[in-house]
Amino acid sequence: MIIAIDGTLASGKGTIAKRLSAWYGLPHMDTGRLYRATGVAAKHQGVSFEDADTLADVARSLDLNDYTEEELRTAGAGQAASKVAAIPQVRAALLELQRAFANQAKGAVLDGRDIGTVVCPNADVKLWVDASVEARAERRLKELTSKGDTLSLSEMIAQLKERDTRDKTRKDAPMVAAADAVLIDTTHLTIDAAVDKARDAVEAAIARNS
Ligand code: C5P
Repeated sequence: MIIAIDGTLASGKGTIAKRLSAWYGLPHMDTGRLYRATGVAAKHQGVSFEDADTLADVARSLDLNDYTEEELRTAGAGQAASKVAAIPQVRAALLELQRAFANQAKGAVLDGRDIGTVVCPNADVKLWVDASVEARAERRLKELTSKGDTLSLSEMIAQLKERDTRDKTRKDAPMVAAADAVLIDTTHLTIDAAVDKARDAVEAAIARNS
């Protein structure tokens, strides 16, 4: 079974993905880490964000073990990720890696922005997870402040809007809900309630396919 989870930053999609992966015993790939690592590696290596071919080489030769979770979760890494993610050569370099992960015999859970639309258009279950920009900014701010980053709520809202706009308007694989995705709005949901809704959608798909 392939479960494709897409949605906006800090919508709760990552937590839903981890919980479903544990519940159904499926391996999980957080595809945002690939783009974050590509952005961070490009910065370390001094590669310009205009140099598409070299950025694609950076993406192809990634070793995720080279990066700590702390390094990849900073606001700067997220901004860099969204810039390199707009480059078609980078997306192409990372596509096969994601498809190979999805197509392992056991199945898999993948979360990102284009899993249901581009990476796994034939996924058994597709979820689109979103929440208001204010709710997402508050969640993200809590996460970053606990790690020592200091930003105001209005700066965080502005950053999220900028990221959302870049992700939605890029030409290649823009962030959009697949037509057959189940929508989960987490603005007023606890994480447990959101996970319950996600599990209901998976159970419905299992019942349909059996
Ligand atoms: O989900 P996360 O915030 O880690 O993703 C970082 C950035 O990577 C996103 O803003 C988006 O630009 C890019 N991304 C993408 N496609 C994916 C996953 C992430 O374009 N499947």
